[in-house]
Amino acid sequence: MSIESLIAEEFPQDPALIYMNHAGVGPWPRRTARAVQAFAEENVRSGARNYAARMRKEQELKDQLRRFINAPAAEDIALVASTSAALSMVACGIDWKWGDNVVGPAEEFPSNRIPWQAQRKWGVAYRAVPLIGADPEADLLAACDRQTRVLAASSVQFGTGLSLDIGRLGAACRKRGILFCVDAIQSLGALPLDVQAAHVDFAMADAHKWLLGPEGIALFYCRAEVRPQLELRQFGWHMVEAMGDFDANEWRPAGTARRFECGSPNMTGVYGLSASLDLLFEAGSDEITRRVLKNSSYLIEKLKVIPGSFLLTPDSESRRAGIVTVRLDGQDHEKLRQDLALAGVICAHRAGGLRFSPHFYNRESQIDNVLEILNVSI
Ligand SMILES: Cc1ncc(COP(=O)(O)O)c(C=O)c1O
Repeated sequence: MSIESLIAEEFPQDPALIYMNHAGVGPWPRRTARAVQAFAEENVRSGARNYAARMRKEQELKDQLRRFINAPAAEDIALVASTSAALSMVACGIDWKWGDNVVGPAEEFPSNRIPWQAQRKWGVAYRAVPLIGADPEADLLAACDRQTRVLAASSVQFGTGLSLDIGRLGAACRKRGILFCVDAIQSLGALPLDVQAAHVDFAMADAHKWLLGPEGIALFYCRAEVRPQLELRQFGWHMVEAMGDFDANEWRPAGTARRFECGSPNMTGVYGLSASLDLLFEAGSDEITRRVLKNSSYLIEKLKVIPGSFLLTPDSESRRAGIVTVRLDGQDHEKLRQDLALAGVICAHRAGGLRFSPHFYNRESQIDNVLEILNVSI
C-alpha cells in the first residue's frame, strides 16, 4: 500500500478538523481503535479466559519497542504508567551521595525537573541550564562536574521544539561516568532513537503523543548494566523473579526490566500501543521523519513572514523536530488558540506562544489552511 493510501485508511479524521497537537495528545490511527475494540469485545465474551494470549501480546509489544529504539533485548524494557513514573523511578532509585548534582535544561517539562528536585533531601542539587546559546550540548556538558551523577534531558524540548544531539551528549556522559537519562516523549514516533548508538542509560516515553497510542502506557528502557544500580521503590507480585508462584515466601526482583512493573499490566494500552507501533513500522521511520521535518520546515517558512512573528523554534534545520512555536507581537496567545480551535485548528498555547505540532500524515494544504485562519485571527 502506498503511504498516501495508508494515511487515508488510517487517519479518517473529521474533515473540519486540522489536528496539529501531537506534542499534546495525538489521535489514534484506525487500527489502534480496532485493536482496542477487539480486545474489549473479547473481554465481554470471555473475560480473561485466554490470559496467555494477553501475555504473548505484552511480550510482542516489548519486542516492537526494542526494535523501535534498538535496545539490545526486550528484557531491557518495562511497561509503566507514564513518562513521569519512569523518571521518578530513576530519580528515586539512585543511591545518591550528599553533594551530588543533576544537570538538565532550564526549559524542561516539569516531569523531567520535579523528580530530580525532589532529591534535595538527599543533598542533591538540580542544575538548570538555559538552552539559549548556539551550542546547547556544550552548555549542558559545561555545567557537569565530578559530582554530576545524571544528565537528564528531553530529546526535544516541549516548548520550543529544540532537538538535542542525543548521541553527542550520550558519548560525553559515558566517557565521564555520568548517567544519561533521556525523556523521549517529544521525539519518539517522529524522530529516530538508537539507545545503544547514543549511549543512553535510561529512556522513557508515554504512548499518547508522537507514538499515536493510548495514554497511560509508557516505555521505560534501562540499560542492563545499570539496572541493578537502581534501588526499587515499588513492589508487588509482578516484579519478582518467580512471578506466578503465589505461595513462595522468599522472593527476589526479576533480573529483567520487569522488576520495574510492580502489578498488573495496562492490557488495553498494550493492545492499543502495539497496533500504533505496527502502523509506524509499516509507514517506515525514515519516511515518517522525513515528512515530520518537511512539515515543520514548511510551517516555519510560512510563519516567519507574518509581520510581528518571532519563532521560538530554532532556525537551524538540524535542531528541528515536530514542534514549531511562534510568538506574535501584541497577541493574546490563549485567545488566539481558542479562536483557532473554534475554526477547527487544534494546537496548544506553550512557552508564551502558539505551539503547532503536525505529524507525518498532516498535509501541506492543511498547513496552508492553518496559516489562512491564523492570518484572519490576528
Ligand atoms: C517532555 C515531556 N515529558 C513528560 C511529559 C509528561 O508525560 P507523562 O504524562 O507520560 O508523564 C510531557 C507531556 O507533555 C512532556 O512534554
